[in-house]
Amino acid sequence: MATLAPKRYQLAIGGEWVDSAEQETFASLNPSTGQPWYEAARGTAEDVRRAVAAAKAAFERPTWRDMTQTARGKLLRRLGDLIAENAELLAVAEATDNGKLIREMRGQLAVLPEYYYYFAGLADKLHGETIPALRREILNYTLREPVGVVGAITPWNSPLLLTSLKIAPALAAGCTLVIKPSEHTSASLLEMMPLFEQAGYPAGVVNVVTGFGHDAGAALVAHPDVTKLAFTGSSETGSRIAAQAGARLARVTLELGGKSPQVVFADADPHSAAMGIVAGVFAAAGQTCVAGSRVLCQDAVYDEVLERVRERAARIKIGDPLDPDTELGPLALREQLEKVRSYVRIGRDEDRATLVLGGGVPEIAARTGGWYFEPTIFADGRNDMRVCQEEIFGPVVTFLRFRDEDEAVRLANDTRFGLAAGVWTRDMARAHRVASRLDAGTVWLNTYRAMSPMSPLGGFKDSGFGKENGFEVMREYTRLKSVWVNTSDEPTADPFVLR
Ligand code: NAI
Ligand code: MG
Repeated sequence: MATLAPKRYQLAIGGEWVDSAEQETFASLNPSTGQPWYEAARGTAEDVRRAVAAAKAAFERPTWRDMTQTARGKLLRRLGDLIAENAELLAVAEATDNGKLIREMRGQLAVLPEYYYYFAGLADKLHGETIPALRREILNYTLREPVGVVGAITPWNSPLLLTSLKIAPALAAGCTLVIKPSEHTSASLLEMMPLFEQAGYPAGVVNVVTGFGHDAGAALVAHPDVTKLAFTGSSETGSRIAAQAGARLARVTLELGGKSPQVVFADADPHSAAMGIVAGVFAAAGQTCVAGSRVLCQDAVYDEVLERVRERAARIKIGDPLDPDTELGPLALREQLEKVRSYVRIGRDEDRATLVLGGGVPEIAARTGGWYFEPTIFADGRNDMRVCQEEIFGPVVTFLRFRDEDEAVRLANDTRFGLAAGVWTRDMARAHRVASRLDAGTVWLNTYRAMSPMSPLGGFKDSGFGKENGFEVMREYTRLKSVWVNTSDEPTADPFVLR
């Protein structure tokens, strides 16, 4: 397997690797050991200014501005090919940086190029329309144009994928980007940077300023030349960014948190439901925005489904994320370990839920220094408990009971979030009926965590607004201009003579 030696990464601005203006760096830690493994440049407002200037110049330069849409598609296709060729390096970088399983990263990198190919295909299918007018001699048409410089701010839980959801459509539209990756997980994106040049992108089309949210991130949000902000992360930060973007009338899309329900009806296949629940909350150690962290079970199957989930979760193989046999790796950040631990305390002492599995740090943590946490299950949950209302973002799930369909829908929707939901039933009429009643941007029926570049992704309520993926996302990266043409040869009449 490829391994990555400790490195010192710089900022990627205007096609060059450069130090931060203040020459400062910060260390990123390896979650499997708790030890530093690379240094990245600590970008500040001055670096953001340089990067935005580079992105703006690249946006206006003929090499990019006048490139045909078909040529833009070809570049994206080449980029997808290069990602496929460098998949192992990128997978190892992210697994080392974030603690994500190498087996999950290999799977993710096997499909990530498809996201680039999809948007490559869309690049020359974007067009305006001709529109009827109230006067015969008028030709009216629209032009669909790129919005300009995009500021992308991304989180640590799935850096390459979540950043790609912004890069691919922005480049298909003809925008340029400044990306501020999470200070906890910048390595995989930095390892990907050379691929843009190899694919043939002009310098400055994609820029990366590593650093912290409160300085580099905030400077990107505030910069007047950043026309659109694409953010994924916590609802608290998203709300702050939306307010600041609103103050200067910048466009913004927000992919935020969730407290997604998995609803299991008595007629569901209990084995499939249990496997879907395990995958929904223990994959990626529960550090996904769509984690199915509340399980609503109909009375008749509650005990059986809980027991099946407990039995499988108890056998989850905790270990080194770089070992392909590992099923659960460490949490990505030390702060996250503390947060998960505190929620287990809240669930037990404050909410008085019943702890039926886990709740602690496994033995491997002391041996390796890694930020591991056991798969944890609470039973006897009530929806008003904090563990049922607040995003934990870890391998913790709470089971609740319901009597009938109306109660299931009411409990499922009774949260500030509206990102995703799973429904397990063999009654197809009920499945579609419940899907239409759920307040969630994505509903999975008898499956969970399915995703594709073709399908719109994005939440309702405090889970954010705007979509990623699908044709719909192109509206977020383009603007529509209406052009009016007088096709008459008649001289323009005197405006003050009424006809
Ligand atoms: P965060 O939402 O604060 O950070 C996400 C990104 O925003 C990072 O790149 C960060 O540097 C940047 N940022 C932070 N403050 C900013 C500001 N004022 N202006 C501009 N950019 C800013 O998330 P964080 O601190 O990494 O994690 C906190 C909690 O958020 C986690 O415990 C987890 O529960 C939740 N979270 C949820 C995610 C989701 O996809 N739903 C993703 C990441 C975190
Ligand atoms: Mg790290």
